[in-house]
Amino acid sequence: MPTFDGHRWHEAISVLDGPLQKQLELLKKSEKAHVLRVYQAVCDDPALDSCSRHDLILLALLHDIGKTITRPSLLFKITKVFFNCANTEHCVAGARILRRHRQNATLIKRVLRHHDSNPADLLLCAFQKYDDHN
Ligand SMILES: [Fe+2]
Ligand SMILES: [Fe+2]
Repeated sequence: MPTFDGHRWHEAISVLDGPLQKQLELLKKSEKAHVLRVYQAVCDDPALDSCSRHDLILLALLHDIGKTITRPSLLFKITKVFFNCANTEHCVAGARILRRHRQNATLIKRVLRHHDSNPADLLLCAFQKYDDHN
């Protein structure tokens, strides 16, 4: 079971608006643990400039927000074990949620595309490494 630091979680999401925090609270504990690991990896990366870090932190916190309203089927979970495929339904759902919460268009696009292979957006490309390794 992944470890989850509830205090650190609340501290991390406190940069977001209340309604977004509330939505993120609907993630499963293991999903929150993943988001927190991605967030921490971004925070700890000494190579990032402050502007990139800011954008990556928001992306780290919000990229899987679509998982709060989509749940992969058992068949998909089994398929995922054998084929390295992502459930991109949560990307579409996440973009929809963020649009409803009037978030920045670039952020919405990155959430929508965060499982695309070889995205042209360099920051999204960088983000995928944190996401994949955490
Ligand atoms: Fe994802
Ligand atoms: Fe993720």
